[in-house]
Amino acid sequence: MFDLLRADIRRNLQDYAVRGPVHRLLLCLTLNSVHAVTLIRLQSWCARHRLPTLFAAKPLFWFFGIEVSKLARIGPGLRLPHPMGLIIAPNVTLGANCDLYADVRLVLAHGSKEGPQLGDHVFLGDGAKVVGHVRVGDHAVIGVSSVVTKDVPANATAVGIPARIVDEHNDRAADNR
Ligand SMILES: CC(C)(COP(=O)(O)OP(=O)(O)OC[C@H]1O[C@@H](n2cnc3c(N)ncnc32)[C@H](O)[C@@H]1OP(=O)(O)O)[C@@H](O)C(=O)NCCC(=O)NCCS
Repeated sequence: MFDLLRADIRRNLQDYAVRGPVHRLLLCLTLNSVHAVTLIRLQSWCARHRLPTLFAAKPLFWFFGIEVSKLARIGPGLRLPHPMGLIIAPNVTLGANCDLYADVRLVLAHGSKEGPQLGDHVFLGDGAKVVGHVRVGDHAVIGVSSVVTKDVPANATAVGIPARIVDEHNDRAADNR
């Protein structure tokens, strides 16, 4: 849990000019994104150790409107710049260093038990939705309010409802974030 959380915190602080350990501590105590990722990691830690998850899951829901399934697999470096309204269904996989903005939904298709599989460094803009057992490749970008219902290749940018590919080689990999 602590390795994952450390990676998450590092990424959620990446846009801040951290001036030493005290400043880092103050940021951790005040940033919503850090509070949300901490509760998400605590919830999955409790689930793995067969402890009640409600002490993490309830504050996540009450304060942030976030529901993350205990059965979701989330890689290190989860970044939630505006942690609000996020829903992650069971059997969803997120790779390392994904960015999820407000109101992102990663959900199952009706009648299916398999969720979306996201690669590493995937960016989901505000209100983006990924529905069903689709694969989103590494460094893919999903635009604001887009609804992904089919696979998105690595390095592609997809937008709209249903999402269409508007760029097959975005420069997100070059950002190295
Ligand atoms: C997906 C995104 C990165 C695309 O940016 P881009 O590569 O510069 O693409 P462009 O703006 O050139 O748009 C390309 C085409 O996609 C369309 N488009 C872009 N974003 C769209 C969206 N979210 N929904 C529908 N269409 C969209 C444009 O209208 C344009 O269409 P056209 O070629 O028919 O004119 C950007 O639109 C986006 O959604 N960024 C995320 C922003 C965000 O979540 N910010 C959170 C900060 S609070």
